[in-house]
Formats: sequence, structure tokens, C-alpha cells
Amino acid sequence: MLEGKKILLGVSGSIAAYKAAILTRLLVKAGAEVKIVMTSAAKDFVTPLSLSTLSKNPVLSDLSENDSWANHVMLGRWADIMLIAPLSANTLAKMAAGLCDNLLMAVYLSATCPVVVAPAMDEDMWEHGSTRKNLETISGFGNQIIPVEEGELASGLVGKGRMAEPEAILTWLNGFFLQKNELAGKKVLITAGPTYEPIDPVRFIGNHSSGKMGVAIAEEMRNRGADVTLVLGPSNISVAAGINIIKVKTAAEMFEASQSIFSDTDIAVMSAAVADYTPVNTASEKIKKTEDDLSVHLTKTADILKTLGSQKKNGQLLIGFALETNNEKENALKKLESKNADLIVLNSLNDAGAGFGHDTNKITIFDRSGNSYPFGIKSKKEVAIDIVNSIINLLHA
Ligand code: CTP
Repeated sequence: MLEGKKILLGVSGSIAAYKAAILTRLLVKAGAEVKIVMTSAAKDFVTPLSLSTLSKNPVLSDLSENDSWANHVMLGRWADIMLIAPLSANTLAKMAAGLCDNLLMAVYLSATCPVVVAPAMDEDMWEHGSTRKNLETISGFGNQIIPVEEGELASGLVGKGRMAEPEAILTWLNGFFLQKNELAGKKVLITAGPTYEPIDPVRFIGNHSSGKMGVAIAEEMRNRGADVTLVLGPSNISVAAGINIIKVKTAAEMFEASQSIFSDTDIAVMSAAVADYTPVNTASEKIKKTEDDLSVHLTKTADILKTLGSQKKNGQLLIGFALETNNEKENALKKLESKNADLIVLNSLNDAGAGFGHDTNKITIFDRSGNSYPFGIKSKKEVAIDIVNSIINLLHA
């Protein structure tokens, strides 16, 4: 599975850095092409000479060497995946904060390929609140984390924090590339986030959607090798590299952006919370509070999912969402039919932890053969995996 794969290995300063040598040997043996960037702290634990000999490539460490500049941008573009192993608490904190004080960080910040990290630290550091928060932050950026192992630590204590063994990292990478190919060559359109419908230059009609669910689906689709375009309403959420983003504000803009690429799309997932109504007129100046009552005349927006459903050709898959507060199943099935979708993902606002703003969601997926698949409450990233798996099952059906 790793034959011909380009792996950019980042090595940071941790006692586990000696395992980078074993890891490099395993990767090269499996047929991967390995380039290595290490921090200066990592050199205290493993020598550049060992790593360059094993990888058969020069090891880079500084932003410039002998008056020549190390092209960090091209390294991140060259790689199929960037693996940071070991990831020290210090480099983790820099990744979370976006610091750029060495070549490894410059490469990381400019990498357009997926990034996976294998943390290594003592148990107390591993359990520290800032480590927990930093891991959550970098995972929110779309980076993947290979779980640490429990066992004997450099301090002599026994506990959590050991870097995954090189063999376990190899297995993880094999799984990644196996999964990655599932959607290779597929073009995917995803709508996400809210829309804002302007009333005047300072006010709008919006909703509580954060865009988290749609972004998690976009990232999972990308992880499986799809060419993903995300049409994203107003949202501050960060999106992992390698996804084409079209930023929009209104329902009309979202409609136009989706419509313009749908015919060239294999899979479309409409997860946005699109405004159903928009003001007929937008005041050009701020509306002053001169009247006791104010009416804003609203008109229906175009239903993007329904329009795409009416244009859908053989071989295209269309997935919609249904957010319901009552008669959930009945309403979801109605939407499946009336919008000509292939799957409807129902989330009910009656389920604790589901819907807007939460990091978790609870869904049931309905297909056109009358099947329904209920899932338990999970993180939005895990829910995205379930949704993408259901779409892949449908592709193979
Ligand atoms: N949707 C859309 N364009 C709209 C409205 C909704 O593409 N103008 C999509 C949503 O992205 C979602 C699905 O339609 O995939 C269902 O959205 P939802 O708000 O649950 O239902 P509505 O169709 O708006 O119907 P209602 O508000 O009556 O429940």
C-alpha cells in the first residue's frame, strides 16, 4: 500500500525520536519515498546522518543552509502525507498557535497534504489541560492523531503517553492510503453553514448553524481522496487544507455557486442551513427606529437541494439533511421523496447533544429502499465518517 507514496516525516525533540530511525527504515522497506525535516531539539536524540542514510535523502532542519533557502512550500506540496513522529508537547503547542520559528513549523503551516501526528510525552504532560486543549485545536484544523500507547515512559513511570510503535504507525498509514483511495477521482460538492439574508447594511436574518457538520464531511471526503468543493456560508470555522472553498453569504449566492458546479459533480451533500425566506427589499441605508412597528416582507428562497434533485442525472448522488423538531421520521421521508435525494440525514433537535453549535450529533440515515440506519451520539468527526461510509455503500450498491 505504501509503494511509491511520498511521506514527509517531521521529527521533533522527544526521547521517542530514536524510533524515527526504525520508522524510516520500515517506510523505505515498504516502498515509500521519505523526506525528513527535524527540529534542532530532535538532533539531541537521533542524528541527521542516521536519518539521511536510512531515508536516502538529505535531512533538512534549517530555513536556510549554505546561503540557500529550504523551499518549505514545495515540500508540503510534494508529500502525499506529512507525518510528525514523535510530536513533542512543544511542537504541538506551536502547531496549535501557528508559530513559525523553524523549518518544521514552516513546512507544517504551508502543507497542503493531510497531516497526521504521533504524540510522545510523559503521562503528566499528556494529561495537562493545555495538551488536551492543543490536541483538540489541531484536530479541529483537520490534523489526524495516532493514539499514544500505555507503557513504560522515559521518566521511569508507567502510564499513557508513549509514542505509537513504528509498526503501529505503519499500519495506520496503510489504512489511511487504503481508505484514501475509496473516493479518488470523485468530485464532491458540499454546502455548509448558515446563510445571512440582509435587511439593511447592518442587519440580517441568520440562524445558529456553525458549519461544523458540513466541514467535517468535507474533510472526511478529502481524506478518502475526493476532489471536494465546499460552498460555505458565513462561519468562522477553520477548514483543513486541500479543500476548494467558495465563500458565500446569502441563500441566493449559495444557490448560484452550487448550481454552477453541480453538473460536473458526482456526489452532492447539502448540509447547509439555508434561509427559507429572504427580505424582498434590502434597505440601502440603516433602518432608523422611527416607527413603533416594523414589518419586513419576506419571500421564499430557491430550494437548492430540490433544484439539484430535479437536475440529477444517472450516476449522481444527492444527499440532504433534515433538521426536525417533531414528526421527525415522517418529515425526513417526505424530504427524501420531494427533493429527489438518495439519502436524507435526519437530526432531531429533541436529541440532547444534536444539532446546532454542539461538537456532537446524533443522526438517522434514510435511503430510498426504505431502510433507516440510526446511529448513537458521536463527535461530528465520527458522524462524518458514518455519513461518508453510507455514501460509499450506496456507490457500490
Ligand atoms: N435546503 C436547501 N435550500 C433551501 C432550504 C433547504 O438546499 N433553500 C436543504 C438543506 O441544506 C437540507 C434540506 O434542504 O439538506 C432540508 O432542509 P430543512 O431546513 O430541514 O428543510 P426545508 O426544506 O427548509 O423545509 P422545512 O423548513 O419546511 O422543514
